[in-house]
Amino acid sequence: SRAQSLSGKRILVTAGPTYEPIDPVRFIGNRSSGKMGIAIADELCARGAAVHLILGPSALSPGKAGVEVIRVGTAREMHEAATTLFGRCDAAVLAAAVADYRPAKVAEQKIKKSGDEMQVSMVKNPDIAASLGQSKTIHQKLVGFALETQNGLENAQSKLEHKNLDLIVLNSLTDSGAGFNHDTNKITILDRGNKKREFELKTKAAVAVDIVDALQELWG
Ligand code: PMT
Repeated sequence: SRAQSLSGKRILVTAGPTYEPIDPVRFIGNRSSGKMGIAIADELCARGAAVHLILGPSALSPGKAGVEVIRVGTAREMHEAATTLFGRCDAAVLAAAVADYRPAKVAEQKIKKSGDEMQVSMVKNPDIAASLGQSKTIHQKLVGFALETQNGLENAQSKLEHKNLDLIVLNSLTDSGAGFNHDTNKITILDRGNKKREFELKTKAAVAVDIVDALQELWG
């Protein structure tokens, strides 16, 4: 049985989008609901792990009262919370859709409508997966996601290596019922030994079981 099979483990999960402010009323964000990462946090908790869920702006909350939720807004806030907590954790599962860029400056006042065009200059955000990949010890496991619209396997493989992850979960926006906001997802899990596991479309709760099984296998 899977019950309590992760007791003694402390695991970090990121979920949801990030909102990168432009001015006091506007932001650049994405369509992540938080459902996938929340399902993973609930599954880890059900198996007895201590779970820290760093959750970007989402209307949702975990189902399990045991999950500790840290709510953040921006990629930089998520990065700070994640790097602070990861040192004490045995693993991290990074399901958040983090903005790669943010507006270079946040206007103090609401930007007024004026000309026919406007430009928002953007600067790079920290890559949370890559930072944790760099600081990771041999005892810590890192599971990332790849959300792709083309060349999924190639791009996922490259993220697995460049971010120094142990596993990557590929989901593709071209598969119907997969990705943002749906209650279902369709994933392929890649590991560092070129093993590729493809799964059928299933509920995010059932997908979370497959992902946590794969993480647990890394510990033997
Ligand atoms: O929240 P839902 O509506 O349920 O949707 C789930 C999901 C589609 C958001 C989820 O399954 C998913 O794919 N999450 C990752 C989305 C993403 O931004 O993927 P990416 O390929 O751009 O990023 C690769 C990996 O690096 C991810 O683990 C991501 O969390 C991480 N990353 C990316 C950029 C950044 N600055 N920091 C990061 O940690």
